[in-house]
Amino acid sequence: MKSFDLKDLSVPHVHHHLLSAVGPRPICFASTIDKEGNKNLAPFSFFNVFSANPPILVFSPARSGRTGETKHTHDNVKEVAEVVVNVVTYDMLHQMNLSSSPFPKGVDEFVKSGFTAIASDLVKPYRVKESPVQMECKVLEVKELGNEGAAGNLVICEVLRMHLNEDVLDENGYIDQTKADLVARMGGNWYCRAHGDSIFEVEKMLARVGVGVDALPENIRLSHVLNGNELGLLGSLSEIPSPVDIDRELEGVSDQEITLGKAKELLAAGESLKAYAVLSRIL
Ligand SMILES: Cc1cc2nc3c(=O)[nH]c(=O)nc-3n(C[C@H](O)[C@H](O)[C@H](O)COP(=O)(O)O)c2cc1C
Repeated sequence: MKSFDLKDLSVPHVHHHLLSAVGPRPICFASTIDKEGNKNLAPFSFFNVFSANPPILVFSPARSGRTGETKHTHDNVKEVAEVVVNVVTYDMLHQMNLSSSPFPKGVDEFVKSGFTAIASDLVKPYRVKESPVQMECKVLEVKELGNEGAAGNLVICEVLRMHLNEDVLDENGYIDQTKADLVARMGGNWYCRAHGDSIFEVEKMLARVGVGVDALPENIRLSHVLNGNELGLLGSLSEIPSPVDIDRELEGVSDQEITLGKAKELLAAGESLKAYAVLSRIL
């Protein structure tokens, strides 16, 4: 391992390490206006949701690392404490990137990047029509983290109203993650796209408690033939299967199928109980 204290590094190095380590980051496409009513649009990947009750988003337009100047978005939310946070899809990628150019103050990035501004219902800043999810927010607080170049400024927003394009909804009216095709920012020029094989489901450990890797019998836990994910799946079982459970799981399973390969296949297919039963016969 390479270990270091951040105070010993230059700001560009700190920036590079942190942004490559903390990723992918969702992108807040923030639409704001200044007190004269000039529109502004810019992407920010220092962004996430922090609370559902109240519904809170936070993003951070940082001071420029080169000049120390504040971003127009930061100035605007201090003048008019409202913002529309729009999500960014793969189809919007290059127009979104174009909008992040350091255009002079007062330049309308909706016009520059070719996005369509549509009026909001509750706040003055406009929504991005092309974005399938638009959130009208009031700014509760701007927490400035420093006065030097690259200092972040937390814009804490309460979501008042959401607009969802029906094209990305499932039959229950929820956002279908397989349809949304969201993009996220990583370090340097890297992005990632949430679609196809890169998105997958993992059952939440909310309703039940796993036994834990430490509770697995030593012959399984210390076998060195199972990787961390496989041990994690076995440790997520609600209880250690009894000999009766194991016999039941192995009914109809032939002797030829009692192999490590089969156990791994079962784990990958989400059949952890049966995999445990197979492993208990071979390890
Ligand atoms: C995908 C993406 C994410 C970005 N994230 C941030 C960010 O989190 N914070 C930041 O200060 N700048 C970020 N930037 C750069 C700003 O978008 C850029 O400085 C922009 O010109 C700011 O516009 P404004 O001055 O109109 O607010 C990002 C740029 C891109 C393309």
